[in-house]
Amino acid sequence: MSNGDRLVLALGGAGTVGSGVVKALLDRGFKVAVISRDNSKLENLKEFVSPNTKPNLTTLVGNVGSEEGVLEVKQRLLKAVGRVTDVVSSLGFSWWQGGPPHAQPLKELHWVIETLLYSTFVSWKAFFPLVRDDPNCTYTFITGGAGEKVLMPGTGFLTVGAASALAFCQVLREEYPEVPCKLNQVKINTGVATPERMAPGFLNHLDLGEAVATLVERRNKSHSIFLVSGPADLKTVILEGNL
Ligand SMILES: NC(=O)c1ccc[n+]([C@@H]2O[C@H](COP(=O)([O-])OP(=O)(O)OC[C@H]3O[C@@H](n4cnc5c(N)ncnc54)[C@H](OP(=O)(O)O)[C@@H]3O)[C@@H](O)[C@H]2O)c1
Repeated sequence: MSNGDRLVLALGGAGTVGSGVVKALLDRGFKVAVISRDNSKLENLKEFVSPNTKPNLTTLVGNVGSEEGVLEVKQRLLKAVGRVTDVVSSLGFSWWQGGPPHAQPLKELHWVIETLLYSTFVSWKAFFPLVRDDPNCTYTFITGGAGEKVLMPGTGFLTVGAASALAFCQVLREEYPEVPCKLNQVKINTGVATPERMAPGFLNHLDLGEAVATLVERRNKSHSIFLVSGPADLKTVILEGNL
């Protein structure tokens, strides 16, 4: 199956991490579909990708974090694209530093878990069956680290949310050890930004997108965790993805 015959569903594809992945996949000839709750983000994404690849990008407004929402948008997605061969999930948010736990209302913890964990679980439950039984298909989670470099004053709930997403990915690897679909995780222990917002040690989202696109394109590995702690690690991801 050539890249042009593959349709990658990029969950979170309108975000900082996801937009780099979407651009890289389109530049390699993949067809890509992106779901976002916010139409203006989808419009920005259409302006961001290489103009000649725009016809291969399908965008849908929808909420993949609620069970009703995901089923509704799944129907529209399948009607629009026919078949999904790959999923890249980079749902969540970029950063949270709302302060120490004693100063937080429960509502805030709910929001963190909802955005990082519930959306990842609900969308996985809806979309994994589309790719699960095919060794030519892939499902890739992009997560943060938890309690490593990110733990600094006021970021506690970010660590709690990231840890929940990491644990979920581990559970999937252990509960589905034999699944034919290539199930992988890219774990990022540093910041990711667009070129205009780069800081020392951060990953350029375009470079990260290239590395993730390599993993999806090659589909050589399964049940692997690709650890990225800085820009140099992206070369390792590309090398391992090519092995
Ligand atoms: N940025 C970093 O520095 C960094 C570093 C390490 C790891 N990560 C990880 O990478 C992932 C993505 O981060 P990011 O920086 O790309 O965040 P982001 O820019 O906020 O993008 C996240 C995307 O997730 C989508 N999303 C969340 N809940 C959704 C829902 N219910 N339905 C549909 N879409 C939903 C959002 O879509 P809409 O709001 O458009 O609906 C948004 O576009 C996170 O898991 C994060 O932990 C990020």
